[in-house]
Amino acid sequence: MPSVKTLVQSQDLKSLPSDYAHFSNSDKSTVAGPEVSLPVIDFSLLSSTNPDERAKVIQDLRNACGEWGFFMLVNHGIPENLINRLFKTCNDFFDMPEEEKLKFETTNPRFPVMVRSGSTTCDVSNQKVLFWRDYLRFFVHPEFYCPNKPTEFSDLVSEYSQRTRDVNRKLLQGISQSLGLEEDYIEKAMDLKSGTQIFAANYYPPCPQPESAIGIPPHTDHGLLTFLIQNGVGGLEIQHKGKWFYVNALPNSIFINTGDQLEILSNGKYKSVWHRAVVNNKKTRISLVIPNGPSPDTIVSPAAPLLRETPAAYAPMNYMEYVNVQRTTRLNEKPILDRLKLH
Ligand code: OGA
Ligand code: NI
Repeated sequence: MPSVKTLVQSQDLKSLPSDYAHFSNSDKSTVAGPEVSLPVIDFSLLSSTNPDERAKVIQDLRNACGEWGFFMLVNHGIPENLINRLFKTCNDFFDMPEEEKLKFETTNPRFPVMVRSGSTTCDVSNQKVLFWRDYLRFFVHPEFYCPNKPTEFSDLVSEYSQRTRDVNRKLLQGISQSLGLEEDYIEKAMDLKSGTQIFAANYYPPCPQPESAIGIPPHTDHGLLTFLIQNGVGGLEIQHKGKWFYVNALPNSIFINTGDQLEILSNGKYKSVWHRAVVNNKKTRISLVIPNGPSPDTIVSPAAPLLRETPAAYAPMNYMEYVNVQRTTRLNEKPILDRLKLH
């Protein structure tokens, strides 16, 4: 199958090929106005020695995770220059010839490297469904992989993943406290030293009929926290109280969303947020996404200290098994998270 990028370049595309026209944005998205502002977390406050500031940011995290499952992280300390170079290099990767890119695919069952030209999935009746997206996706922790082209790629990904790992650990310390747990509860229980990190680059070319196509359909992420940055072009939407919200990035911010393992660990206090990527007809959008999870062999279950007053709401499951079941779940099939829910 040709990449969406090739499809767009090879013809003067006036209308959407029918394979991609599966969606309708009937549930129109809303841009959060002043009456609903999206949560913003100031990362620098987590290192504050002022107890009031620290208490405030823990409270902000509690609200953001409890109400939205999403926040914009500012003052995170990851250099803008690193991020700009990373976008440039990812763009260069997608510009390479198709055959060249596909050489980087590996089928390591635990840590595959995927280069997808156009993404597909099957719906429940086994019909193929195509999305308006090309992507590259590989593990960067606990084992580090990265294509060795373009030249700088591996160094940049290594540095960015290291820095996001540090930010992730610190955020999870704050989130631990926001749940009334010891500061290091989550990092110990989830074995974060060997935590799973994936690097995904999504490439969404301009689409002739954006309202009938979708970049990524509604889903939740499998890990604890997902980090997302974009090349100045929007497209991420999150669900909140039954409505879809289009999120506009603050300068130099990172979008962070909660994932399924945090929902399980918090025994349902922090729900994994539903989100999707919509496409546009003007500009190519690139999003760089880092899902951060427990170590591959962690068996995730609700945190024991949270079960003193409430019964466990989820059955335990090995994380890697969870990821594999989620990967093979079809569109509109009951998500694995729902199958783990106890009554
Ligand atoms: C994802 C994802 C959204 C986006 O890669 O899991 O939700 O805006 N991406 O690219
Ligand atoms: Ni996602």
